[in-house]
Amino acid sequence: MSHDAEHVAEDATPQDADAPATPHLDFAGTTPYEDYVQADVLTHLQHLRSDDPGEMVFLVTTQVMELWFTVIVHEWETAGGALAQDDVPTAVAALKRSVRELQALNDSWRPLAQLTPAQFNSYRSALGEGSGFQSAMYRRMEFLLGEKSASMLVPHRGAPRVYAELEKALHQPSLYDEVLRLLARRGHGVPRAVLDRDVSQRYVPSPEVEAVWTELYAGDESGELARLGEALTDVAELIWRWRNDHLVATRRAMGAKTGTGGSAGVAWLEKRAQKNVFPELWTARSHV
Ligand code: HEM
Repeated sequence: MSHDAEHVAEDATPQDADAPATPHLDFAGTTPYEDYVQADVLTHLQHLRSDDPGEMVFLVTTQVMELWFTVIVHEWETAGGALAQDDVPTAVAALKRSVRELQALNDSWRPLAQLTPAQFNSYRSALGEGSGFQSAMYRRMEFLLGEKSASMLVPHRGAPRVYAELEKALHQPSLYDEVLRLLARRGHGVPRAVLDRDVSQRYVPSPEVEAVWTELYAGDESGELARLGEALTDVAELIWRWRNDHLVATRRAMGAKTGTGGSAGVAWLEKRAQKNVFPELWTARSHV
């Protein structure tokens, strides 16, 4: 028995005789929790660059969002893989998990949503040219949504592992490509040009794909493909909300100043936020 365990036993008063067992205290090495979670690593990755007490939450919120991006990429890769195997239930389950994760991701804007310019200025210069624009995991999310662009690999030339992962993601079919291939296999009129498209290019909306979704939405709403369409619409909506929450937080924190990443800032983000995710799922609604 370890010293700590003895201590707990000594502390136990007679009326604790029937008390529920207490957790184990003595481990030969690091705790099994640490071995699994690596909390010691995770909670020592906060290398602050200013003396401002508000910088901690800025950095941790960004790190938390990176972790959510990682989970969501995992879910969408699971969903894409399942669709390629014609396993719609597994794909929908992964998409639904990602919807709850996207909600948690979006809720994590709260600590940063009301930053004033003076508060943000207290540590902004310490960020140098660092910008979320350089987030490779966010870029993988955008690639999975069909927002492909080879130029987005350029910032990562100096990080071989990140570059290789991003390059692989660029050349893999997006989640939406897998959806459209499945719809074609199920007999829906997705054009050959869409099925054979160069998947490393940004997805361009197609009137025929819009007609497929119109037909599915006009039919049985409880059907497997209509439910897949709704899960994808939930994802699209929550991505749009993330972009807009980011835009509003940025407008509050820095007005129309240029971004640390070198862009025009809010004006550039406004254009990005307008991009439609799974475009035909939205336009088809006008025809149902
Ligand atoms: C309130 C604090 C924030 C401000 C003022 C801000 C500002 C900006 C600005 C101005 C840009 C445009 C690129 C540039 O010139 O830098 C940008 C891009 C971006 N930021 Fe933030 N940001 C904030 C918080 C965050 C957080 C917490 C994340 C989480 C990772 C994040 C992720 C991103 C991403 C992913 C982009 C690229 C978006 C795209 O490619 O469409 N930002 N941010």
